[in-house]
Amino acid sequence: MRRLVAETTLTPADLIAPLFVREGIDAPVPITSLPGVAQLDLASLDAEVDELVALGVPALILFGIPEHKDAVGSGASDPDGIVQLAIRRVRDRVGDAIVVMADLCLDEYTDHGHCGLVRPDGTVDNDSTLERYAAAAIAQAEAGVDVVAPSGMMDGQVAAIRDALDGGGASEVAILAYAAKYASALYGPFREAVDVAIADGGDRRAYQQDPHNARESMVEILADVAEGADMVMVKPAVTYLDIIRQARELVDIPLTAYHVSGEYAMIRAAAANGWIDGDAVALEQLVAIRRAGADAILTYFAKEAAGWLS
Ligand code: PBG
Repeated sequence: MRRLVAETTLTPADLIAPLFVREGIDAPVPITSLPGVAQLDLASLDAEVDELVALGVPALILFGIPEHKDAVGSGASDPDGIVQLAIRRVRDRVGDAIVVMADLCLDEYTDHGHCGLVRPDGTVDNDSTLERYAAAAIAQAEAGVDVVAPSGMMDGQVAAIRDALDGGGASEVAILAYAAKYASALYGPFREAVDVAIADGGDRRAYQQDPHNARESMVEILADVAEGADMVMVKPAVTYLDIIRQARELVDIPLTAYHVSGEYAMIRAAAANGWIDGDAVALEQLVAIRRAGADAILTYFAKEAAGWLS
């Protein structure tokens, strides 16, 4: 009866699995603050992808950790950069069996850890960063990506990427815009996962959003849609269910939410202490994100949850 009258569903088809691929390793490296998640080498990526396909998870999103970082984040647009290699590898292995998304940003590739190019005074230069994003989009498209996901929160990034893709013969590549992305303290474990420390104790409040603001997110989302976003994202998820709901009412394109590293880590840590039933809390949170209005959820629980749900 409960199944019959359920207003909200949660199935493996609602999940997007974030995966970390690291250059220069030949075995998975566990991420301490994300128990159960590891940085993968290309060979272990194969096995992970096979499992996701078998479980019916429809999409994955790749994050790269390069061996060398520099001021302009060269690895983000290098045709042989780690994410480009990973995209090709997944595509060659499983074809269209899973949607291949790639995070499009510079922070994993820059030595200063910012999502954009930095001026001598330490501030991030929005407009010159857009050229780097355009180059990264082309590199990912040439590797065979289905969806690029710009996460840097630079103004005009979706338009710049759309122009580059269309001009580069990749008009079929879609854009999932990290549209409403807050300057959150919940990204801590992710920064361990991608070896990012922001220079001089800096933060991202100059380009990510202030948690005090909700209407601002609607402005950001509408701007991204106008610039050509095919899907939009709210991030983080559980602390921002009100934003997900408002976004759902605002736009009719697919809406995703990112259940971020800190949200995952908190559940794992409390469960490891025996204080909560971690699997039950994870499912409750994923259902809540769907109930708030998200079509799909990026979550480090994707593989496990798909197993529980199938
Ligand atoms: C930026 C990016 C971040 C996350 C995804 N893309 C970190 C940040 O903005 O500082 C965080 C994801 C998570 O915490 O799970 N490339």
